[in-house]
Amino acid sequence: MASTFNIFLPIIFLALISTTSCSHDVRAPFKPTSLVLPVRKDPATNLHVTNLRKRTPPVPVPLLLDLNGRFLWVTCDQNYSSSTYYAPFCHSTQCDRAGVHYCHKCRLSSARPGCHNNTCGVLVTNPFTERQTISELAQDVVSIPAIDQASNPSQWVTIPHFLFACAPSSLLRGQYPQSVQGVAALGHTAVALPMQLASNFGFQPQFSLCLSSSTTEDGGVFFGSLPSKVQPRALAYTPVSVGGQGVYYILVKSVKINNKRVPFNTSLISTTRGFKGTLISTTTPYSALEHSVFKIFTQFFADQLAGVPQVEAIPPFGLCFDANILPPTRVGTPNIDFVMQNKNVTWTFLGVDALVRVRPNVSCLAFVDAGSDPGAAITIGAYQLEDNFVHFDLSRSRVGFYKSRLSQPFRCSNFNFTGARLAMEVDATGE
Ligand SMILES: *[C@@H]1O[C@H](CO)[C@@H](O)[C@H](O)[C@H]1NC(C)=O
Ligand SMILES: *[C@@H]1O[C@H](CO)[C@@H](O)[C@H](O)[C@H]1NC(C)=O
Ligand SMILES: *[C@@H]1O[C@H](CO)[C@@H](O)[C@H](O)[C@H]1NC(C)=O
Ligand SMILES: *[C@@H]1O[C@H](CO)[C@@H](O)[C@H](O)[C@H]1NC(C)=O
Ligand SMILES: *[C@@H]1O[C@H](CO)[C@@H](O)[C@H](O)[C@H]1NC(C)=O
Ligand SMILES: *[C@@H]1O[C@H](CO)[C@@H](O)[C@H](O)[C@H]1NC(C)=O
Repeated sequence: MASTFNIFLPIIFLALISTTSCSHDVRAPFKPTSLVLPVRKDPATNLHVTNLRKRTPPVPVPLLLDLNGRFLWVTCDQNYSSSTYYAPFCHSTQCDRAGVHYCHKCRLSSARPGCHNNTCGVLVTNPFTERQTISELAQDVVSIPAIDQASNPSQWVTIPHFLFACAPSSLLRGQYPQSVQGVAALGHTAVALPMQLASNFGFQPQFSLCLSSSTTEDGGVFFGSLPSKVQPRALAYTPVSVGGQGVYYILVKSVKINNKRVPFNTSLISTTRGFKGTLISTTTPYSALEHSVFKIFTQFFADQLAGVPQVEAIPPFGLCFDANILPPTRVGTPNIDFVMQNKNVTWTFLGVDALVRVRPNVSCLAFVDAGSDPGAAITIGAYQLEDNFVHFDLSRSRVGFYKSRLSQPFRCSNFNFTGARLAMEVDATGE
């Protein structure tokens, strides 16, 4: 960690000097301890979108938030215009850092962002189709708001040589929110946002998700130290392991609904089945369960709500109820507990959050069937992450969360992102 920082320190320093002419004055001594990206829920896909300020002159670039992405990537075969774009040569230290040794060639006769000879080619994965495409590794200026003691965005800081993948537009096929131009990656790799920001600014590699359930009020991703609203001792922690592609797994040992253990054959959700654990994902709108797990889980949940009439399920959901007859209070709908390795640590999804209102008179269990060959027996999706503060403490290989939304003293939309939003809008108007 420290050595990486030292190697890059001279580069950062030079770049700071050379970028002080831009409108956002960045003084070299300012070292943020915490940064934030505002994140908004897209009503059409129920996925979460952030804006990163990028390029010279800077423009806001809307990106899908992907917890498990390896590279931040943007499409840049059209309309990428920046005087600070640079594609490092293959075998350079940048390519080494990104772990790529493949020399990229571009058959077009004229060079443009994404198309240069003898740069390095990285494999970028479309999170929806799993298709991989070779993209040019590139670097450019990125700005992000630092937050102050009160967790308000204050000063903007600049990463002059941020490494990302410059991908073809074809990579944007799938259930992307409209208007996104790529993916903001939070995976455990040297070049995804958490590690790159941490090594640039010399803070611990840690970040926190606080996704808002509202499509009009922002949540955020916090990099570096925790916002002051959060008392680390109030969080429950469980070990996190990292899959080969930099993806995050935790171990859910058993599941309880209404305080009763769901009678899974434990080997169904255990790692002995070839799964690496329970995946956490922001590109899966609703938590997804392997087919046989899903069947047992939904049956058990239905049994706990035996008094409520079921109605025909509305895809992608498999169990729906007449919303008019659902118990009106949070007490009436059974809670779901995920029990971790340490039995004392449970992650509780309140009954009201386990259901989603799909039509005015229909509520469905917000867990979907992942089919019989998913990447994990259980994938905790965006809907179940919303309004919980989830801390990825990479240096200690653990994930922390509030045991239930009721024990969280704030909502994810309670942070003040006014400063960050205003600056985005100023840029968007071309000032
Ligand atoms: C590129 O910019 C042009 C003109 O501003 C616009 O019409 C076009 O849709 C843009 N293409 C992409 C892929 O954003
Ligand atoms: C890359 O090199 C090939 C020849 O090896 C050449 O035909 C092509 O135009 C070059 N592309 C760029 C973008 O310079
Ligand atoms: C649990 O599953 C394993 C593997 O699928 C199987 O061998 C075992 O018999 C099952 N146990 C029970 C009690 O169903
Ligand atoms: C829900 O409302 C729709 C239209 O308003 C109606 O056709 C349907 O029968 C209702 N379903 C239930 C379960 O009440
Ligand atoms: C679980 O909690 C109890 C009481 O708070 C404590 O005595 C016990 O040591 C804990 N067990 C583990 C495995 O942490
Ligand atoms: C929110 O942030 C803006 C700008 O950063 C500031 O002017 C405003 O006072 C803040 N509001 C609260 C409630 O802290």
